Amino acid sequence: MGLFQEAQEMEKHSKSSLSVMNGKIMAIAFFEPSTRTRLSFETAMLRLGGRVIDMGSVEASSLAKGENLADTIRMLDSYADLIVMRHELEGAARFAAEIADAPVINAGDGAQNHPTQAMLDAYTMWREFGRIDGLSIGFMGDLRYARVINSLVQVLSLFDVKLHLISPPSLRPRAELLDFMRGRGMRFEMHDQLEEAVEGLDVLYVVRIQKERFPDPMEYERVRGSFRLTMESLRGARDSLIILHPLPRVDEVDFAVDQTRHARYFKQAALGVPLRMALIKLVLGGAE
Ligand code: CP
Repeated sequence: MGLFQEAQEMEKHSKSSLSVMNGKIMAIAFFEPSTRTRLSFETAMLRLGGRVIDMGSVEASSLAKGENLADTIRMLDSYADLIVMRHELEGAARFAAEIADAPVINAGDGAQNHPTQAMLDAYTMWREFGRIDGLSIGFMGDLRYARVINSLVQVLSLFDVKLHLISPPSLRPRAELLDFMRGRGMRFEMHDQLEEAVEGLDVLYVVRIQKERFPDPMEYERVRGSFRLTMESLRGARDSLIILHPLPRVDEVDFAVDQTRHARYFKQAALGVPLRMALIKLVLGGAE
């Protein structure tokens, strides 16, 4: 069964319990803040009947005493069947995967990747439209530092979609990502303003400006608040437009938008549990 079909099956169990992961332990190692990814992974494992150990904050672990990342991973590997890791350094999850025998799932590494979020986003589109092929998808906001954009573009490169990249010039995707898109023959246009693209969109995917990843605070100050989705900016949108956002939201989506027929970001976040249940099953194996 494919990931999306398995996730749809898991939706039936996302408020009940299975026993498919009985006896299995998942270690959570998050070196950066998280609400949704950490808690949806934990919920997913618990719903599957497994158990979770959480390294806690860096300050609460022996990292605070100077222990290195490799030794920390070796320890988690000896305790758990699966490691879910978020780290501020690009490539950290890959490094951990080279050390550990247990599978390592990347829950976000620096500005590089957030693959399980991208799987969730694509799954949400598939659940909403019954397909991904043929969709016109706008990305709006910080397309330079938002790691999920890298991952979601990679997922969407498997489908026939048209992308609209909406951002201030300084927050356009990095050259490597644009090269990737050209290399894959992906169709895309760049826009400075949402108004240029909103009428044709099936999906509008908004990302916050990633303050913590700007190398220069002055650069952040120049773009802060430059994109804000309001009722006014949605004028001309199709009735069927859906708005996604990986969350957390800061100030880039007006609260009034939450009440529109377009808003799907809270549903999207909720689907993180069945999607990650499916992913854990696919990674660790196991039948009901
Ligand atoms: N979407 C996402 O990664 O949210 P958290 O940072 O809360 O995990």
